Amino acid sequence: MSTYDQLFENNRAWVASKTGSNPDFFAKLAEDQSPDYMYIGCSDSRVPANEIIGLDSGEVFVHRNVANLVNNTDLNVMSVINYAVRHLQVKHIVVCGHYNCGGVKAAMIPKDMGILNPWLRTIRDVYRMHHDELVAIQNEQERYNRLVELNVKEQATNVIKTAAVQKSYIKYGYPIVHGWVFDLHTGLLKDLNIDFKKILTDIQEIYDLTAIPSDMNEDSGY
Ligand code: CO
Repeated sequence: MSTYDQLFENNRAWVASKTGSNPDFFAKLAEDQSPDYMYIGCSDSRVPANEIIGLDSGEVFVHRNVANLVNNTDLNVMSVINYAVRHLQVKHIVVCGHYNCGGVKAAMIPKDMGILNPWLRTIRDVYRMHHDELVAIQNEQERYNRLVELNVKEQATNVIKTAAVQKSYIKYGYPIVHGWVFDLHTGLLKDLNIDFKKILTDIQEIYDLTAIPSDMNEDSGY
């Protein structure tokens, strides 16, 4: 059997494994979803979202792209965050990066990468914002690892900049935004313990989107 055909074979085996212990598994799955978690991670095939955190179907709302970026002009990620917060009312949003991230590595190489330039520039901007800390790290691998962590922190901050997150947090006390890094060498997750409340307070000096202007009937959601 070819590798491709094997996928359908795998699928049937998976269905059997789910329904074996719980015949109503798919009937329940088809009804609705109410995940507590949203996960924003890298597209890298070595970092499978559900698998590394042991969550089943229906338990985590996932968005992945190259180097787990949260660009405010990316309607894709903005729509996913908006839906997760306003409709699913997730309690936690995780931005999960990983060491040995090819996207972050590419951003550290100063050359023309064609169509990737605008995407990688977000990471290059993270490098620029944290320039002094990064250039002080002599070991290249350690500097690369640190950029992965700083990128996670900046993308988590970008999540906190959204009106959806700010307004929901004031109204309900959630979601809380977290930053993690996955280590491919050990399979372990590292919680960067970003201070959600402090970041929220700090950025609200100019990113406060919680007030609705008098000429708007309802908030924009972005
Ligand atoms: Co990656």
